[in-house]
Amino acid sequence: MWGDAVDWLVCLPAGSVDLFFTSPPYADARRYSAIHPDRYVEWFLPFAKAMLQATRESGSFVLNIKNRVAAAGHLRGQRHPYVYELVLELQRMGWRWLETYIWSKPNAIPGRFGPRTKDSFEYVYHFAKGVRPFFDLDAVRVPYRSSEQEIARRQRDRNGRRNTEAGFGRDRSATYDKGGADPGNVIEVPQAYNQHWGPAGQHTAVMPEGLAEFFVRAACPCDGLVVDPFAGSGTTVVVARRHGRRAGGIELHREYVEVCTQRIQSDQCEPEPGELRLAV
Ligand SMILES: C[S@@+](CC[C@H](N)C(=O)[O-])C[C@H]1O[C@@H](n2cnc3c(N)ncnc32)[C@H](O)[C@@H]1O
Repeated sequence: MWGDAVDWLVCLPAGSVDLFFTSPPYADARRYSAIHPDRYVEWFLPFAKAMLQATRESGSFVLNIKNRVAAAGHLRGQRHPYVYELVLELQRMGWRWLETYIWSKPNAIPGRFGPRTKDSFEYVYHFAKGVRPFFDLDAVRVPYRSSEQEIARRQRDRNGRRNTEAGFGRDRSATYDKGGADPGNVIEVPQAYNQHWGPAGQHTAVMPEGLAEFFVRAACPCDGLVVDPFAGSGTTVVVARRHGRRAGGIELHREYVEVCTQRIQSDQCEPEPGELRLAV
């Protein structure tokens, strides 16, 4: 959909969306929608309110966002707290703050960042609407790191807490019959620099498909609906469709809507455009 998400989101039927997954414009970061960090929370809350209304009771809102260093004012040179302020306001609004994930970027670009290292991670906050959110850990398990023999030994080991002399041992036998390991809340996905030679190359802030894939698989049921209110080049939509989910996106700038459409059409997923069903 082409337009302002604040207008479209309020039109979605209440309780219809399984997962809102999005990477909104970060404070002050890009020319396409510069929002001052001091005003970011106020700017974001109407979107969050409309998403809460449109989310299913078992549904989630997953927000990828990044810190920044204040460029002016009394915080100049320090980390600006807008991300943390936003998270607390979302929780006050009624979004249940389930987890903070770190998206770790092994290929983060070095540069001049002042008295600090380069930025090599971003936050991904997982909020849920209700007390029993859908979450499929099995869908995102990773291969065990130990050898097959060691895993077989651990599966047989019922010694539980007596495993270590210090008494810190845990009975891990039950964790080795799941077909893979819990990936943990640090998700390593290389940043998508210039690797989109297709339509997405025209957007300056494309997220890697692997990040969207993790949350689509974990936080949206197979027959569920994913919506990205700040769709950009359409990464969320393309990935969700590729994984068999229904998906929709909203994007303010027409040229990016065209990028999304081309990308959907050139992907392996079914190309029929579909429509977000509106309540009015
Ligand atoms: C960080 S980019 C999203 C990139 C996307 N995840 C991708 O992989 O291409 C944020 C997008 O939000 C769009 N945007 C900004 N304000 C908006 C609004 N009020 N409604 C809808 N889209 C908006 C911007 O034009 C930009 O394309």
